[in-house]
Amino acid sequence: MKLFALNKTRSFGELVAKELNLSLSLYEEREFEDGEHKARPLENVRNQDVFVIHSLYSDGDQSVNDKLCRLLFFISALKDASAKKVTAIIPYLCYARKDRKTKSRDPVNTRYVARLLEASGADNIVTMDVHNLQAFQNSFRIPTENLEARKLFGVYLLPLVKDDSPVIMSPDFGGIKRAEQFQRTLTKQLNKELPVIFMEKYRSSGVVSGQRITGDVKDKAVIIIDDLISTGGTIARAADSCKKLGAKKVLALATHGLFTGTPDETLQKSPLDQILVTNTIPPFRLDNTRTKEKVTVL
Ligand code: R5P
Repeated sequence: MKLFALNKTRSFGELVAKELNLSLSLYEEREFEDGEHKARPLENVRNQDVFVIHSLYSDGDQSVNDKLCRLLFFISALKDASAKKVTAIIPYLCYARKDRKTKSRDPVNTRYVARLLEASGADNIVTMDVHNLQAFQNSFRIPTENLEARKLFGVYLLPLVKDDSPVIMSPDFGGIKRAEQFQRTLTKQLNKELPVIFMEKYRSSGVVSGQRITGDVKDKAVIIIDDLISTGGTIARAADSCKKLGAKKVLALATHGLFTGTPDETLQKSPLDQILVTNTIPPFRLDNTRTKEKVTVL
């Protein structure tokens, strides 16, 4: 077995390798003056079971598209080098939010990414808390696996909320299933059934509206659960409404902390007490000390 982690996901890959008692396999990556690149395994992969880790988010140096292209080429190079099976481990899968047509002639980018990965020769895809599980599963013809962070969140949360009256909240209709799954996890861990509520959220031409919350939040610890935080607008809106309705505490959990736009501004102003994310994306865009204090990376 061989385990590679491409450039920007190297430190994440090292943690995975350590957990498995392995070392990361060696490869070289070269950049050319014209912006092209090449990556080559420096170890023999013939007839090997190969795993490649690459989290597909934009950072200061590489765009999502750049990272995707590097992953596709590397998988193809592994297959050309006679790897028996290549599994792409993509902790954050890009384009997962564009999973359906919402207007005539809209693209379904999730499916196009799936086609590209299949064409590269990938045999298996593993990701984490993908935006829309059904769309993800239906987009691929090769086997896929979606890992979940909810148990990890639960273990971390218990001491924070066990003395309050916690309620679980989805900040939009689309996330209700996720909130219900999390409720099942937390119910087992807490040994008591928690209510699930949701907030309405409509998006039209980029403008978000909707304020109503179904359920009681007064004097409760509200746990907002989402798959990702991008601008932070969704969780900030939800936290505002909860606090106005008398919530005692508002925490937000999201597997992927993209923190795009001006996250410091949005989150610093927000009455959110704490934000938990996982390490699928390092929170490199957070700059402000007060915002950083609110965010815990598990
Ligand atoms: C939407 O359906 C997603 O689950 C997230 O709620 C959304 O993408 C978060 O974006 P933002 O942080 O920009 O509001």
